[in-house]
Amino acid sequence: MHLHKYEKYWLAFGVGSLIVFLLITGIMAFHNGSHPPSAKNTINYEKVDEIAPFNNPGVHKVEGKDWDYEAVVVASAFYYDPPILEVPVGAKVKFIATSKDVVHGFEVAGTNINMMLEPGYISEYVTTVDKVGEYLIVCNEYCGVGHAQMHSMLKVVE
Ligand code: CUA
Repeated sequence: MHLHKYEKYWLAFGVGSLIVFLLITGIMAFHNGSHPPSAKNTINYEKVDEIAPFNNPGVHKVEGKDWDYEAVVVASAFYYDPPILEVPVGAKVKFIATSKDVVHGFEVAGTNINMMLEPGYISEYVTTVDKVGEYLIVCNEYCGVGHAQMHSMLKVVE
């Protein structure tokens, strides 16, 4: 098949447009579908303080569940509530956290606990910390001027 010069230009333009279109839709799909795997439940981030379990932040012993304790954390610029979490060594703990404003991180240094906290989403992670110690909890998502000072502490005690 013989194509005229201008037809080739139009064909190239068409293919080029298609590639750009696919790239844009692909990028948008990625962004829309990129909520962290640890966050499956939604919450009204403006009413976090009124909604259980976030109306009672802290470490709570629970019965009849697959874990022994729940560590409930509310993040906001630029601190965590509560400032210290204390759990017994070897206990199975479910960390349940959310944000009241912007995206924050929740990384417990020296452990495999690392969650992204997004406003409107509840992040959960179940784990056992089997070494006594004090673990620094840091915000690893840039959240504003106080980001570098945003931290709390996980105490694992006998
Ligand atoms: Cu919170 Cu960075």
